[in-house]
Amino acid sequence: MAAASAISRVFMPTPQGRPARAHSGARHRRTPPLTPQTATFLARSVRGLEWLCAAEIESDLNASVFEIGHREIVFRAPVDPRLLKLGSIDDLFLLCGRIDEIDRGRLSLARLAAGLRKLPLTRSLATVERLRPIRISSGFEVIGSFLGRRNFNRTEIEFCAGAAISEITGMPFHDHDAVASPERDASWRIHMRDSQAVVGLRIALRPLHRRDYRVSSAPGALHPPVAYAMNMLSGAYPGCHILDPCCGTGTLLIEAKRLVPDVIAIGSDIDRDALLAAASNGSNAHCRWIQADLGRLPYRDGFADCVVANLPWGRKVHAKGAIQGNMSLAVDEALRALAPSGNAIFLASRGEKIVRDRALLWSIPIRLAGHWANIQIVSAGDKNSKPPACLQRRYGRSLQRMWTKYGSSLP
Ligand SMILES: C[S@@+](CC[C@H](N)C(=O)[O-])C[C@H]1O[C@@H](n2cnc3c(N)ncnc32)[C@H](O)[C@@H]1O
Repeated sequence: MAAASAISRVFMPTPQGRPARAHSGARHRRTPPLTPQTATFLARSVRGLEWLCAAEIESDLNASVFEIGHREIVFRAPVDPRLLKLGSIDDLFLLCGRIDEIDRGRLSLARLAAGLRKLPLTRSLATVERLRPIRISSGFEVIGSFLGRRNFNRTEIEFCAGAAISEITGMPFHDHDAVASPERDASWRIHMRDSQAVVGLRIALRPLHRRDYRVSSAPGALHPPVAYAMNMLSGAYPGCHILDPCCGTGTLLIEAKRLVPDVIAIGSDIDRDALLAAASNGSNAHCRWIQADLGRLPYRDGFADCVVANLPWGRKVHAKGAIQGNMSLAVDEALRALAPSGNAIFLASRGEKIVRDRALLWSIPIRLAGHWANIQIVSAGDKNSKPPACLQRRYGRSLQRMWTKYGSSLP
């Protein structure tokens, strides 16, 4: 029953398209030329991290960032495999174009289809094919969304766009809501806001926030791009010791190794199952996992150059052992293990005062799971008047500039 409905919801190209290609599974486009090519991209991010993502994009891709909006960064960059390695963004699309005169009326669906026919969609597929193969026969999905009131729904946007894109590209459209739908090589994004529809084509096969290493999860497991962002802010450098004293499934340290492969990463947690999850997630990350109570850490004073931690505040995960009902002990003990010149990066609920004002170097608001929280950069002692260590590292200049321009106005 489920399979039958899936098939019935598949559009095949019209005779004007290229049905033969849709069935072959082979790649028929000419091999792309080797000349450098730039394109315009749209990255999606966690709310509050747009400025930091822009700093990573600018530094790592030699990109020009020209628009930062709510959870979005628009930039121009070379079409290069480094695009697929961005760590702080949630998802990345080739920006194929914008369609105007979209309003709340149903006629907008016809305008969407007509607008899609004018966009260089086949060229967009060829651009993404420079980075990874696209099998014509695997088909595509459309993810529709809109802001504001419309007299049509998301599914209607997806089916309308699906029919038009199928006709243009010769690829079969698959409804992503249909059950038992296998992975598609192409994923188009149609987002309507105000009077425009913004059309994008996903660069990777899956959203970038989905990490292949994550084979075990647990309540409170951190969103990997947030963990990556916390590491960008940690000041970690090759050869430094980085500690997560309540590592859970290991996300922060696995992302630390992704950002700076040569760090020496040590994770501890009171919970044995959490450590087993961390070990299986981090099977290729070369971190050390140790069972220890955050209230009585087995590390000497100041041994860690950076501390990164998502503490068990009690929302999703409760504190156990010596720190139960005493989170200031957890913070004090984490800071005891931190080198005098190092920084600790804590994720804290909004309004949570975890250290004395003088030790707090930077507080960055982010929105996670429907709540505002803060990434706090904390110095080892409250006599430390140095700026955050991350500003001296690889992303320092971009972080400072992007924060001044776009971050400091966050709520
Ligand atoms: C919010 S979770 C951390 C999630 C982790 N960042 C991840 O991505 O999976 C908090 C962790 O603190 C651990 N924890 C609770 N009490 C602890 C204690 N006294 N000492 C060490 N770890 C503790 C929990 O077992 C849990 O794994």
